[in-house]
Amino acid sequence: MAEPPLDEGRQTREGTTAVTQTLAIIKPDAVLGGRAGKILAHLEEAGFTVRALAMTRLDSRSAGEFYRVHRERPFYVSLVEFMTSGPVVPMVLEAPDAVRALREVIGATDPTEAAAGTVRRLYAESKERNAIHASDSDENAAREIQFFFSHEDLSTSR
Ligand code: CMP
Repeated sequence: MAEPPLDEGRQTREGTTAVTQTLAIIKPDAVLGGRAGKILAHLEEAGFTVRALAMTRLDSRSAGEFYRVHRERPFYVSLVEFMTSGPVVPMVLEAPDAVRALREVIGATDPTEAAAGTVRRLYAESKERNAIHASDSDENAAREIQFFFSHEDLSTSR
């Protein structure tokens, strides 16, 4: 008989939390401000394994495409301008229930609302210039990982 499907919450059949991947981007405010290394160390110390990492610069078209879900929002043009204003450091991170775990470690969008000890509370400048992006669902993580990295990029780190 076929086994029943696994339920939500990333549980494996052994009852442990499944290891998954998510995408983080250290944003231009943090890279240009010399805080990329501290943020990377913070993420590693929080238990994430870096599976792929790059430094790149987005053009308006690719930044606009990456954030297309926000295209009707009043901050969209400014967000695209900010994300193209300097280098970004996208990375694929792995951990048990990585999407949820990373969002907890980075804190709320607005650093003034982010919990003490979170990446944004420690290193972000403002709600827009907020140091780091993290995928908000497993589906978006898969899309966002593909946006920056190829299959070969991901297979070199094992
Ligand atoms: P991020 O997690 O990358 O997702 C969308 C980004 O839009 C967010 O981080 C911020 O950089 C930016 N953003 C979200 N809300 C606002 C806002 N109210 N004003 C300005 N920028 C915002």
